[in-house]
Amino acid sequence: MKILMTGGAGFIGSHAVRLFVNKYPEYRIYNLDALTYAGNLENLRDIEGKPNYTFIKGDISDATLVSSLFSEHGFDAVIHFAAESHVDRSISGPARFVMTNILGTFNLLEAARQAWAGHSADKLFYHISTDEVYGSLGASGFFTEQTPYDPRSPYSASKASSDHLVRAYYHTYEMPVVITNCSNNYGPNQFPEKLIPLVLQNIRLGKDIPVYGKGENVRDWLYVEDHAVASDLVFHNGNHGATYNIGGNNEWKNIDLVMLLCRVMDEKLGKPAGTSEKLIAFVKDRAGHDKRYAIDSSRIQDELGWQPSLQFEEGLRKTVDWYLENGEWLDHVTSGDYQHYYENQYRKR
Ligand code: NAD
Ligand code: DAU
Repeated sequence: MKILMTGGAGFIGSHAVRLFVNKYPEYRIYNLDALTYAGNLENLRDIEGKPNYTFIKGDISDATLVSSLFSEHGFDAVIHFAAESHVDRSISGPARFVMTNILGTFNLLEAARQAWAGHSADKLFYHISTDEVYGSLGASGFFTEQTPYDPRSPYSASKASSDHLVRAYYHTYEMPVVITNCSNNYGPNQFPEKLIPLVLQNIRLGKDIPVYGKGENVRDWLYVEDHAVASDLVFHNGNHGATYNIGGNNEWKNIDLVMLLCRVMDEKLGKPAGTSEKLIAFVKDRAGHDKRYAIDSSRIQDELGWQPSLQFEEGLRKTVDWYLENGEWLDHVTSGDYQHYYENQYRKR
C-alpha cells in the first residue's frame, strides 16, 4: 500500500509518520510537507534512511504539483495532517489558513477523485481535524460527533470548511473518507508557539510567561503518541464516512496547567519552589478566545478500543524531560522568523 501522509514534518504528523514507517515495513510512506516554519526534518531523523519512507518537499496549495504526485506514485490512501495550525497566527494573518487548510485539502480531494475514479472502493482519504470546529463550551457538557459546527476563529473556520469538503466528497462522489477531531495535543517536537512548549522555553530562558486574560480557559490535553495510535486504528478499522472524536478526558484551566509546569520545571532544574511562577504575566486576551473544549471520545473507545495510555503527570514529565534534553532543537526552531513572530505577537499585549 502506498500512503501519502501530508504534514509529516510537523508536530503530530512526525509522530504518526514514525509509527506507520516502523510498524508497517510493507507499506510505502510518502511524506509531503512544505517545510513551513512549523515543519522540521530533524523531527524524523531516526527514520529518514528507512527503505519504506520517502520525503517530498511541496505545497498542497499547488494543485498541479498535488495531481502530478498522484499520477507519478499511484497513492492508495491519504492521511492528511498538513495545516496551518496556530490560532494566534490565524488572527494576525488568515489568508494562509484559507490557502493551506481549505484550498490544500480541496486539491488533495480533487487529485484523489481523479486518480481513483471508478476504483475507489479500496482507497481511503483520512482527514485529521480538530475539536475547535465545534466552537466553545460553557462550564459543562462535551463535544460529541453530533455537536453542530460553530467555528469561531479563522483557523477553526478553515478546518471546519475542510471537514465539510471531505464529507461532501463522501456523499457526492462516494469517496471512502474518515475524519477525526482531536483535542489539544502535547509532547515532544511541538513548536514553541503553543502553550506548553512556550512556557517551558520561557522558563528555560528566564522570560515572562504570557497567560491570556485571567488564564481561566479550559483545554483537554492528550499525549501526542496517543493521537498517533488513534490514527493507526482509525485508518485501519474506522467506518467509511464516519467521524471519531479523540480526547484526553483531561481538562485543565490554563493557569493551573501553567502553575503545574512551573512546579515541575523548578523541581527538574533544582530551583527553589516558586521560582518559575514569578515569571507568570497576565496579558491581553486572545480575540474571540474559546472558553472551554472537552471531548466525549466514547465512540472511538467503544468501536475501536482506543484509550489514552498515559496519565497526564507522566506525559508532562516525559515532555519536560524531552525539552530539557533537546535545547538544540528548540534553539534551531526558534531562530530567525520565529523571533520576529514572537516580538510582534507579544509586544502589543
Ligand atoms: P504543525 O503546525 O506542527 O505542523 C503542520 C505541518 O504541515 C508542518 O510540517 C508544515 O510544514 C506542514 N504544512 C503547512 N502548510 C503546508 C502546505 N501548504 N503544504 C504542505 N505542508 C504544509 O501542526 P500539528 O499541531 O502537528 O497539527 C497537525 C494536524 O492536526 C493539523 O491538521 C491540525 O489542525 C490538527 N490538530 C492539531 C492539534 C494540536 O493540538 N496540535 C489538535 C487537533 C488537531
Ligand atoms: O483543540 C485543538 C487545537 O489545540 C488544535 O486544533 C490547534 O492546532 C492547537 O494549536 C490547539 O489550539 P489552542 O489555541 O487551544 O492551543 P494553544 O497552545 O495556542 O493555546 C492553549 C491555551 O493557552 C489557549 O486557551 C490559549 C492559551 N495561551 C496560549 C498561548 C500561546 C496563553 O494563555 N498564552 C499563550 O502564550
